[in-house]
Amino acid sequence: MDKSSLEARRILLIIGGGIAAYKCLDLIRRLRERGASVRAIMTGAAHEFVTPLSVSSLTGEKVFTDLFDLTDEAEMGHIELSRDADLLLVAPATADLMARMAGGLANDLATTALLATDKPVLIAPAMNVRMWEHAATQRNIATLAQDGISFVGPNEGDMACGEFGPGRMAEPMEIVGAVEAHFGEAAFAADQPLKGLKALVTSGPTHEPIDPVRYIANRSSGKQGHAIAAALATLGAETVLVAGPTATPDPAGVSVRHVETADEMLAACEAALPADIAICAAAVADWRVEASAEQKMKKKNGEDGLHLKLKQNPDILATLSALKGRKRPRLVVGFAAETEKVIEHATDKRMRKGCDWIVANDVSPATGIMGGDDNLVHIITAEGAEDWPRASKRDVARRLAHRVADHFRKGKSAT
Ligand code: C5P
Repeated sequence: MDKSSLEARRILLIIGGGIAAYKCLDLIRRLRERGASVRAIMTGAAHEFVTPLSVSSLTGEKVFTDLFDLTDEAEMGHIELSRDADLLLVAPATADLMARMAGGLANDLATTALLATDKPVLIAPAMNVRMWEHAATQRNIATLAQDGISFVGPNEGDMACGEFGPGRMAEPMEIVGAVEAHFGEAAFAADQPLKGLKALVTSGPTHEPIDPVRYIANRSSGKQGHAIAAALATLGAETVLVAGPTATPDPAGVSVRHVETADEMLAACEAALPADIAICAAAVADWRVEASAEQKMKKKNGEDGLHLKLKQNPDILATLSALKGRKRPRLVVGFAAETEKVIEHATDKRMRKGCDWIVANDVSPATGIMGGDDNLVHIITAEGAEDWPRASKRDVARRLAHRVADHFRKGKSAT
């Protein structure tokens, strides 16, 4: 254990009212063991699960509970409480607390501190599996993520209510890991290694019209590309994301250009040039319908099917890679989803497309990568292949952004 990994870090822990609140006692111990100071706010409902006395014994500080406690207000206002912290940590984040955060409510001390802060917020959700899966909670999760709030967990497993599924709060050590990762990340982002550089990222699928109501598409979720744009922006790059149609929310801090077709995607990329970095993560349709119909096509009785003539779409990655002189981004990165001989095929693709790096992922069904939240990638450069461990798409994005920053720090010109 690194005893000082959180030395002098000030954490404002907001304890929501759920059975998982008991885990907070251990969480406070673990955070303090690592050098953090912890101040706690408990919601009214949290009192049903742990006592302020236990919490304050472990934090070594007064526990803050009531917005209208005038003594607290005199000693420390709710604004000061969050101003004084380096990180706000919500554990357990109940469905109710998340809904109030997503709605911007400030009807108790916990939500007031959360609304009044410009500090980073990390939440550890905990709730019944059906509450987690409910459309309202899923909507709130998307809103909170878009607001820049980070999540740790929930985990899948047996729940106190006797059910099984996602909703268990992350274990205290996992939360500590997420807090440490947050500060590690913050330290790295603090010197903004990509400041002054322009980045262009493509993400999501394209839709190629057959007629005004039908189109050819693919299953790309856009999760990886969007996460890459967010990670580059976090490190200071002025980032343009050219996004095909996807349900993944626009990342914060990024200029997003929404497009439908491959042609539009190419035009939006060209309009965003010059750029120092181009990362093509979109699953661009290889073909489009040569002459899409102007009116909705009608099926005719007795006809033996329909023949669509397809035409190849422009290859955006190859086009950007082939640009000459100052128009060519200094680092062009493509993706290769492969199901076999991953490194061999990706190395080939790097040469064929003329890009500098390829991020190759193994999407064979056994990996469960396709459409999921994890990715398992290899980075193919002129020097060879780097194997990265399986990680969430968000962590892969951050690592790639760091790798890009290292590349520019070393002052290498990729061309
Ligand atoms: O040729 P393939 O589709 O396997 O190549 C994948 C890589 O090429 C990805 O980086 C993808 O974004 C990019 N690509 C592109 N334009 C296309 C097809 C692929 O930018 N028309």
